[in-house]
Amino acid sequence: MTDLLKIGVLVSGNGSNLQAIIDRIEAGALPAQIVCVISNKADVFALERAKHHGIPTHVLDHRSHAGREAYDTALVELLRSHGVGLVVLAGFMRIVTPVLLGAFPHAVMNIHPALLPAFPGLHAQQQALQYGVKVSGCTVHFVDEGTDTGPIIIQAVVPVLDDDTEETLSARIQKEEHRIYPEAVSLFAAGRLAVDGRRVVIAPTA
Ligand code: GRF
Repeated sequence: MTDLLKIGVLVSGNGSNLQAIIDRIEAGALPAQIVCVISNKADVFALERAKHHGIPTHVLDHRSHAGREAYDTALVELLRSHGVGLVVLAGFMRIVTPVLLGAFPHAVMNIHPALLPAFPGLHAQQQALQYGVKVSGCTVHFVDEGTDTGPIIIQAVVPVLDDDTEETLSARIQKEEHRIYPEAVSLFAAGRLAVDGRRVVIAPTA
């Protein structure tokens, strides 16, 4: 039997995507193990969620490091100490550097609440509403050195309704986030994702 994929999840807030991945694993539908949850902020709900499921947690405060590279060096050390094979950014509000990306090539994932390449960066749902698009959604992608520019793994589309607010649109998008993020992790765990330039090719099931 092959070893289970070891996942490190980086968070800064609520952790509902973390929860979706935990739930998929606990349901026996995702053969992987979350070996650590690391937050750059203390007292966030994501840490409570992890503790509730017996997952080791760490707070690595970005303010106690000299810069982004120094912070990522500490992150890499911590992730490696847990034997992590996939880094999952789940609402992690930090820009990562080549220090992290070089340590985990094609093994850092993020979820973004828009259909990339539309509306990268902060407040993606608000950007979509202001632009007047009729559909939006979410994107799971590998992280590269740009902001929300890495190769796309899975996207899901949701309608934008005339009476939507940022809150209602975000809630509709989050439902899809919670479906596709565990799905993307599952494809990675199964060794079915191959990066070919900008494209991620998903191998069929054997
Ligand atoms: C999600 O909307 C995700 O798309 C974005 O940050 C939010 C995190 O939510 N990257 P949660 O902490 O997983 O609930």
